[in-house]
Amino acid sequence: MSYFEEEKTFNKIIDDLMVLLKNEDSYNQVLSSMCSPPPKIAREIAKIFAATNLGDPGLFPETVKLENEVLAHLADLLHAPSSWTGAITSGGSESNLIGCWAARNWSKVNRGIEKGKIIFPESAHVSFEKAADLLNLESEWIPLNDNFQVDIEAVKEAIDYRTVGIVGIAGATGTGVCDDINPLSDLALEKNLYLHVDAAHGGTIYPYLKKLGYDVPIYGFENPGVKSVTIDTHKILGSLIPGGSIIFRSEEITKTIVKSITYLSDSSTKQITITGTRPGSSVIAAWVILKKLGESYILERIKESFEVTKYLTQRLNELAEIKLVFEPSLNIIGFTCNQMTSEDLVKELLQKGWHLSIYSNWTRIVVMPHVTKEVIDKFINDLETVLNKEM
Ligand SMILES: Cc1ncc(COP(=O)(O)O)c(C=O)c1O
Repeated sequence: MSYFEEEKTFNKIIDDLMVLLKNEDSYNQVLSSMCSPPPKIAREIAKIFAATNLGDPGLFPETVKLENEVLAHLADLLHAPSSWTGAITSGGSESNLIGCWAARNWSKVNRGIEKGKIIFPESAHVSFEKAADLLNLESEWIPLNDNFQVDIEAVKEAIDYRTVGIVGIAGATGTGVCDDINPLSDLALEKNLYLHVDAAHGGTIYPYLKKLGYDVPIYGFENPGVKSVTIDTHKILGSLIPGGSIIFRSEEITKTIVKSITYLSDSSTKQITITGTRPGSSVIAAWVILKKLGESYILERIKESFEVTKYLTQRLNELAEIKLVFEPSLNIIGFTCNQMTSEDLVKELLQKGWHLSIYSNWTRIVVMPHVTKEVIDKFINDLETVLNKEM
């Protein structure tokens, strides 16, 4: 086959894919996702460094250095002590699974618990349900208080001799609310329990919000009972999908889960991740976002998302048929409609091209950087049309 023909085939495949997958890359009318299209430089990194594999670190020692720098940066955002250790993962679900795995094994080693129980807030992501199932842990789900935070008294009551750990959420999927981590930390210390915090979403927002002058919760390792924290790079930071991480207080914890992988190019490789092969490109992109585009770039994204969140809140409050379920503390909005169920509303808006999600009984919007004021104006127009149709 001549070069020309190869080029033609190449272009044809790409053109066909562009047609097949059109609309799936722009996020034009996506109001439901916690991801956003990565910046141009991250896309370029995906192309150029597609072959890097952090699952075989001996082959990619320079990428490993960048990985360590990304982890150190994230550990710093979480106020981790100098004894921290951690890993880049495929995202929040894997990190939460690893956190629960460590809670189970750490409790087995330190407290001799064979068949344990783990305590989750009702707001916890579905990945915790998967984790309990996979790890054969019994789970107890604790109701929320009026502020959508886990009820601390109910957590206290749920703790028994088999409890291996507690989970707190810093930026819940459905509300953006941060649990009151400090009393959970006190409980963890008092009862010698493992405390994992899921800051998959909030972990990369709060430190920057603080710099923008907002009051933010203290959710990280400043709380002495916190043993591990999930924090994602493929959410508001806009790094390549997939990209997440888990940071631990110390190796004293990870030594209960670490595995040696001797068949790799570096036979001393050790892993605490579930996945073996892991994309280096996602880590390189995260490194560029954190270290090269840097703080001003991230602050701009977050500032803009918060301004648009306020704008959307105001526009929704102007509609008599719509009621906000909570005052947004992050870039997540929940509302109900007095004319129809959230299911019907979401279906009607999908007819107009809008992707929204439902959480509990409310319609949920996540205001990510691709959701601009112009997008909100178009959305409110369509929402008004749907509501007027119903009158
Ligand atoms: C708070 C929280 N934790 C964990 C996850 C799971 O993250 P991932 O989809 O990256 O596995 C999500 C996803 O939305 C989330 O909102």
